[in-house]
Amino acid sequence: MNSSPQHLAIVMDGNGRWSKHQAKPRHFGHKAGLDVLKKIIEAAAQRGVRYLTVFAFGIENWLRPSTEVSYLMELFLSALSRDVAKLHEHGIRLHFIGDKKGIHADLLQSMQKAEELTAANQGMHFIVAFNYSGRWDIQQACQALTQKVLSGELALSDVNEAQISAHLSTAQFPDPDLLIRTSGEQRISNFLLWQLSYSEFYFTPKYWPDFDEAELDCAFAFYQSRERRFGQISEQIESKHA
Ligand code: IPE
Ligand code: MG
Repeated sequence: MNSSPQHLAIVMDGNGRWSKHQAKPRHFGHKAGLDVLKKIIEAAAQRGVRYLTVFAFGIENWLRPSTEVSYLMELFLSALSRDVAKLHEHGIRLHFIGDKKGIHADLLQSMQKAEELTAANQGMHFIVAFNYSGRWDIQQACQALTQKVLSGELALSDVNEAQISAHLSTAQFPDPDLLIRTSGEQRISNFLLWQLSYSEFYFTPKYWPDFDEAELDCAFAFYQSRERRFGQISEQIESKHA
């Protein structure tokens, strides 16, 4: 049996539909979603998760109506100024992955400050994918690797899986063990394309603002019931654990 996932990744989805159900504007759902995230950070840390990665804002999300994009940017900025101190108190280490280009200078500065403040903490790593997409990540890794090959720092024959992983924005983290996506959608939507190769997937119809500790426990129970074979057969996995 698996224990709690060491690395949990979450696609927080359904804020807009949750709002619509209540006949409220979309930003209500985003605000409620942030409150849920704060509870889930704590719950995940309590359950022994070492890495929690959330998809907060995808590169494609810039295509949303500008009023919604502005609201989300304000929400991130105010969350950073209001909530980082508490994360720090709890020993959490904050990281941001994604394209830094295109992020407003104020927000970028708050992100960097939060990373610096919490860098020496020893608790759970909380990784926020912001202005992120899986294809962007692979693209920037390819560019960095190509640069090294062109300059002679790296031989072409050394461009292998380990080198690609080492040039992704997630280089310092293990691959996710479990991915949760809320709101009934069952797709990756350009999240951690490379890193999710062997992750277990848990889908729930609940909208993200309705997600709670009980649902997190259901996801963990599902994860614990899975046999992870990584391409091998059951008997090999059993003998390894015997
Ligand atoms: C997820 O909820 C929040 C973000 C992407 C920031 P959505 O806003 O995607 O909610 P739906 O999918 O429209 O219901
Ligand atoms: Mg959505």
